[in-house]
Amino acid sequence: MAALLLGLLLFAMQSPPIPSRPQLPHILIIGVRKGGTRALIEMLSLHSSVAAAQNEVHFFDWESHFQRGLPWYLSQMPYAFPDQLTVEKTPAYFTSSKVPKRIHQMNTDIKLLLILRDPTERVLSDYTQVFYNRLQKHKRYQPIESVLVKDGEINLGYKALNRSLYYVHMQNWLQYFPLESIHIVDGDELIRDPFPEMKKVERFLKLEPQINASNFYFNKTKGFYCLRDHGRERCLHDSKGRAHPHVAPAILQKLYQFFHEPNKKFFELVGRTFTWK
Ligand SMILES: *[C@@H]1O[C@H](CO)[C@@H](O)[C@H](O)[C@H]1NC(C)=O
Ligand SMILES: *[C@@H]1O[C@H](CO)[C@@H](O)[C@H](O)[C@H]1NC(C)=O
Ligand SMILES: *[C@@H]1O[C@H](CO)[C@@H](O)[C@H](O)[C@H]1NC(C)=O
Repeated sequence: MAALLLGLLLFAMQSPPIPSRPQLPHILIIGVRKGGTRALIEMLSLHSSVAAAQNEVHFFDWESHFQRGLPWYLSQMPYAFPDQLTVEKTPAYFTSSKVPKRIHQMNTDIKLLLILRDPTERVLSDYTQVFYNRLQKHKRYQPIESVLVKDGEINLGYKALNRSLYYVHMQNWLQYFPLESIHIVDGDELIRDPFPEMKKVERFLKLEPQINASNFYFNKTKGFYCLRDHGRERCLHDSKGRAHPHVAPAILQKLYQFFHEPNKKFFELVGRTFTWK
C-alpha cells in the first residue's frame, strides 16, 4: 500500500510534458554553396540544444516560397523543445542580394553562420557538382577550361566564379547585420580537423560546451572525418568530397591570381585572414 501511494505521489510530481513545436530559426547557415554547409549542420546537430531542419528550405531566395509567408516557413521547421535553437541551412542565401534584408525583417538578432573554403577550390567543386548532375541526366557539359576561360581571360560571366567573390556578397550582408552577428567557419579547417572549428561555433552560439573530440573519427578509406553520435556512426554522403577535374596548371595559376585581390578585399571587410592560396 505504501509503495502504491509513493508510486502515485511520484507520478503526480513528474513535471508536465514540455511542448515540442516548430520554431522559426534562431540560427541560419547562409552559405556558401560547396563550402561544407551539410557537414556543418550535421556536426551542429550533435548538440542536444540544436534542432536542425532536414532540407534546404530556400525561403528567402525563392519567390514562390517567400510569398507563402512566415507561417509556411514555420511549417518547414523541425519540432523543437523551448530550450532548443532551430537551425536551417540554404547555401544559396549568401549569394542572393535580396536575402539579407528579408532575414533582417524577420529577426534582427538572428545568428548567421557562413562556411567558406578557398575560392578557387570552391569554383572547381561547384563545377564538379554541376558536371555530375548533368552526367546523371545523360547530358553533355562543357569541359572546365572552356567555362573558366574566355578569349584567354578569366570568364567573369561564369556564375560559379562570381559565387567565390566573397567580398561582393559579404558587403550586402553587412548592410543589414553587424560583423558580430556573422560567424565565419573555415571550411578547409572543418574538413581537416572538425573539433576545434566546432568549439568556436558552440562559443559563438553561446551553447553549453558539449561537442567533444570523441564525436569525430577519421575514416581512412574515405579520407574524411565521420561522426559518432551516442554510439551511432555516420559519414557524409559519398557525393561530398568528390575528386575535382584536372585543370591545366596554367589555368589554375590564373585562377589563383584572379582571386588574390578579391580575397584581400574580403579579409579587410571581415578583419580576418584565411590561408587561401
Ligand atoms: C556578381 O554577382 C553580384 C550579385 O549577384 C553582381 O552584383 C555582380 O555584378 C556580379 N559580378 C560580376 C563580375 O559578374
Ligand atoms: C563526449 O560526449 C559524449 C556524449 O556525446 C560523452 O558520452 C563522453 O563522455 C564525452 N567525452 C569526453 C571525453 O568528454
Ligand atoms: C568508412 O568509409 C567507407 C567508404 O565510404 C565505408 O564503406 C565504411 O563503412 C566507413 N567506415 C566507418 C567505420 O565509418
